[in-house]
Amino acid sequence: MTATAIAHPNIAFIKYWGNRDDALRLPCNSSLSSNLAGLETRTTVLFDPSYTEDRFVLAGKAQEGASLKRVTDFLDLVRNLARHDIYAQVDSANNFPAGAGIASSASAFAALALAASTAIGLKLSESQLSRLARRGSGSASRSIPNGFVQWQAGEGDADSFAYSIAPADHWELIDLICVLDSGHKTVGSTAGHALAHTSPLHALRQERVSERVELCRKAILERDFALFAELVEEDSEFMHAVMRTSTPPLVYWLSETEIILWQVKQWRKAGRALCCTVDAGPNVHVLTLKNEVDWALQELGKLPGVKQIYQAGVGQGARLVDEK
Ligand code: DP6
Repeated sequence: MTATAIAHPNIAFIKYWGNRDDALRLPCNSSLSSNLAGLETRTTVLFDPSYTEDRFVLAGKAQEGASLKRVTDFLDLVRNLARHDIYAQVDSANNFPAGAGIASSASAFAALALAASTAIGLKLSESQLSRLARRGSGSASRSIPNGFVQWQAGEGDADSFAYSIAPADHWELIDLICVLDSGHKTVGSTAGHALAHTSPLHALRQERVSERVELCRKAILERDFALFAELVEEDSEFMHAVMRTSTPPLVYWLSETEIILWQVKQWRKAGRALCCTVDAGPNVHVLTLKNEVDWALQELGKLPGVKQIYQAGVGQGARLVDEK
């Protein structure tokens, strides 16, 4: 009873921030993203009746405490679905560094959902898998389907899942991930979501976010970079405004973050196809098109504080690697 799966992280164009139900990870709003090709989590799950507890090994290191608990809680969901009570060994590794500021919970829980459900003998549909992955990490629901993805907020657990709106090869969008400070300690997204409601701007963002999802989806389907860029930056700015005005305030940006955001806006005004989005950390995802990449890499590399730039095109959905 073993299976191995790989999944990519994803970058949200219209963000998930705040839940209607924290335990079920039912989001306040629908969100849009694309998977990040080349960056991946590979996870093997082995259920064995001789085990007396779950084990979780990340990058060769046995995990304990909160990291292990999050995985065992998730395995409990899988066991409940399969009506089995056997323990498992989970071996997981990312091909991108832990300190790179690329959130790994999306690819981690997408790969774990697929590997664990397969290993235990469940045959879940894509939407069932996305719902399951969502319970581990909200954004993981979006790493299940292929390419460009929409996570519909839904009414409840049954219809809150993600689906592909266009395949990976629909549009040659490139994410240049500018790493500023890999070691920065911040409030994690799970704790952050719980604070969203304390911001007076949260309700205001919610008023407009469905409209932004619809427009951004249209921009992606029509490959309209100018419209896409405006919506992506507006939503990222708005989410960070919500974060900053929460109690306590969450400030993820460094001064170098602001410099990149400002500079990219200037370049766009001058006709370059570039825009920015920032997750729960200081690093800037600069989204651009293939023909701008060489120029952008050169110019971004000159900006203060940029330690490294990762490049990712649009990736596939989660998939099985090896079934025994
Ligand atoms: C800012 O999915 O990481 O990246 O469900 O608690 O694991 P949990 O949160 P997570 O939140 C992602 C927040 C974000 C925006 C986004 O990816 O939509």
